[in-house]
Amino acid sequence: MNQILIQQLQSLTSDVNNFITNLANLNALIMQSVKAVDWVGFYQYLSKKDCLLLGPYQGTLACNVIPNGEGVCGRASQTRRSQIVPDVTQFKGHIACDSHTRSEIVVPMILKKRLVGVLDLDSNRLNAFDRVDQQILKQMVLILLKNSDIIF
Ligand code: SME
Repeated sequence: MNQILIQQLQSLTSDVNNFITNLANLNALIMQSVKAVDWVGFYQYLSKKDCLLLGPYQGTLACNVIPNGEGVCGRASQTRRSQIVPDVTQFKGHIACDSHTRSEIVVPMILKKRLVGVLDLDSNRLNAFDRVDQQILKQMVLILLKNSDIIF
């Protein structure tokens, strides 16, 4: 992943402030630009049910609901910290929506101290994501949140 993605997202999200629209384009941008990615999507955090609910994504069918704290996504939401998993077989409790997934990165989305959800990227390659990717995704999430009205 590289800085060009950040500029592209800035331009894609500058004219429309609808969160779902901007999320949809974020997913498409990542999917078409990052070869290693075979699933990318958003899980919304539902505080009343303390779980994550599937939102806009690109890729094969995925789990609808993930309890907070479970799997890589649930770990990212519970700790509010990005998770890089180089080999999903080594992550206790990994939720395998797609048996081809080998590695994963999940970045929390936080707005004014409130957890909005997480952005999840999967790859069918081992060790597909690193700290540079994490930093770029963090910046993309910041742009997305800054340029969008959060309606829930
Ligand atoms: N693997 C994730 C679940 C979501 S899917 O990858 C789309 C996890 O362990 O949280």
